[in-house]
Amino acid sequence: MATCVMMKNSIFLIIFACLWTCHDARDTLAPGDTLDSSSSLESASAKFTLSFVDQRNSNFKYLAIRRNKYNPNKAWIGNRNRPISSSSSPLLTLDSNYTLKITQTGEDPIVICSAPQTSNSTSSGVVATLLDSGNLVLQEMNGSRVFWQSFDYPGDTSLPGMKLGVNHSDGHIWSLVSYVDTYNPALGPFSLVWDPNEHELKINKSGVVYWTSGVLRSDGTFEFILPNVSKQRYNFSIVSNENYGYLTYTAVGDQSLQPEWVLYSSGILQEYEGQMNIVQAQNCDGYDTDGGCVRRFQSTKSSGTKIADKWVWIGTSIAAALVLCTAYYLLRRRRSALPSAGENRTEIENEMLIFMKSN
Ligand SMILES: *[C@@H]1O[C@H](CO)[C@@H](O)[C@H](O)[C@H]1NC(C)=O
Ligand SMILES: *[C@@H]1O[C@H](CO)[C@@H](O)[C@H](O)[C@H]1NC(C)=O
Ligand SMILES: *[C@@H]1O[C@H](CO)[C@@H](O)[C@H](O)[C@H]1NC(C)=O
Ligand SMILES: *[C@@H]1O[C@H](CO)[C@@H](O)[C@H](O)[C@H]1NC(C)=O
Ligand SMILES: *[C@@H]1O[C@H](CO)[C@@H](O)[C@H](O)[C@H]1NC(C)=O
Ligand SMILES: *[C@@H]1O[C@H](CO)[C@@H](O)[C@H](O)[C@H]1NC(C)=O
Ligand SMILES: *[C@@H]1O[C@H](CO)[C@@H](O)[C@H](O)[C@H]1NC(C)=O
Repeated sequence: MATCVMMKNSIFLIIFACLWTCHDARDTLAPGDTLDSSSSLESASAKFTLSFVDQRNSNFKYLAIRRNKYNPNKAWIGNRNRPISSSSSPLLTLDSNYTLKITQTGEDPIVICSAPQTSNSTSSGVVATLLDSGNLVLQEMNGSRVFWQSFDYPGDTSLPGMKLGVNHSDGHIWSLVSYVDTYNPALGPFSLVWDPNEHELKINKSGVVYWTSGVLRSDGTFEFILPNVSKQRYNFSIVSNENYGYLTYTAVGDQSLQPEWVLYSSGILQEYEGQMNIVQAQNCDGYDTDGGCVRRFQSTKSSGTKIADKWVWIGTSIAAALVLCTAYYLLRRRRSALPSAGENRTEIENEMLIFMKSN
């Protein structure tokens, strides 16, 4: 019995030691380092990973940042519009010129970002690090300057801490853009943007606004973002000055339930694997304003058109019925008077004339 327990313990120890030492995950690429399609970067506390991922139902690979869990969402994609053939062996490299890029044989490199190489501020070296927030940053080795960060280039997903809005200094816009369809992450029809003047989130489809959130109320909720849920789930903060106008959210309460807002190609804004849709812009047909939908068509015109349509339909039906009845009547008359055909024809013609006049 005792030996059994001892054996069990030692097995655990061995497994634990192996996990500890075999775990060579790194969170940083230094100049000259590469990531191939079977390796990954892992953030310091293993919350997020960066790796090449095969896209389901397609023949392509994407460089993606994903939460370290079962069936994760692609929170960020480095090559949305430049899919990599799943048969190719891409490499992510931070080269000696401080350029982070994807290379593959027979294709032009996909440049993700680069740091200025001649400035003295980079004399201490530049590294690319995946942070526990899910943010990939290209920064000075000692961390004092950030040259680029994935949080500034969202895909269809907003993680806590990401911005939605505008940097007035350089015009940069932080927004979400949906996939083209379920499996194609190229830029699709729906966008989620923050309007820094009206202080509202908006979903637009091909530039036409379908939905607005309403303004942030004093109780910390938006009128059209799950009022009873958002207060317990999200802590919104708005920054608005001459340099920036943006919104961020953090998660409140159970920190194991870290939300990811995803704008789907159907127009739904949903928490990834969440029970509820945050917004359903695809239900915004342009006629009503329920749930923050924007009216794009005049509803009076719509009901007017509907009534007109109804009368056209009724009119057509009555006319069709009349024609059928007349045809039937004439046919019967003609049949019953077959023997004297010549006389009958004029009779029919006369009756038709009378009928047409009466009409
Ligand atoms: C770095 O930049 C120099 C000058 O533009 C170029 O000659 C060199 O090939 C670049 N190195 C890499 C690894 O791309
Ligand atoms: C960089 O530093 C060197 C020596 O410290 C100096 O000679 C050079 O002018 C500096 N370059 C810039 C762009 O500041
Ligand atoms: C980081 O490196 C830069 C450039 O070498 C230097 O000026 C700065 O003092 C360093 N910061 C820290 C905190 O070491
Ligand atoms: C806004 O743009 C300016 C100019 O490019 C830049 O210095 C600043 O860091 C940006 N602010 C944010 C929050 O990204
Ligand atoms: C719709 O979204 C796109 C993409 O972010 C943006 O460029 C455009 O200004 C938005 N249009 C409106 C009317 O908000
Ligand atoms: C939301 O909360 C309000 C008051 O706090 C309550 O009256 C209302 O029924 C709630 N709605 C839902 C859908 O739970
Ligand atoms: C919400 O965030 C603000 C700062 O952005 C913080 O002061 C406040 O305590 C947070 N509230 C909750 C409930 O976490």
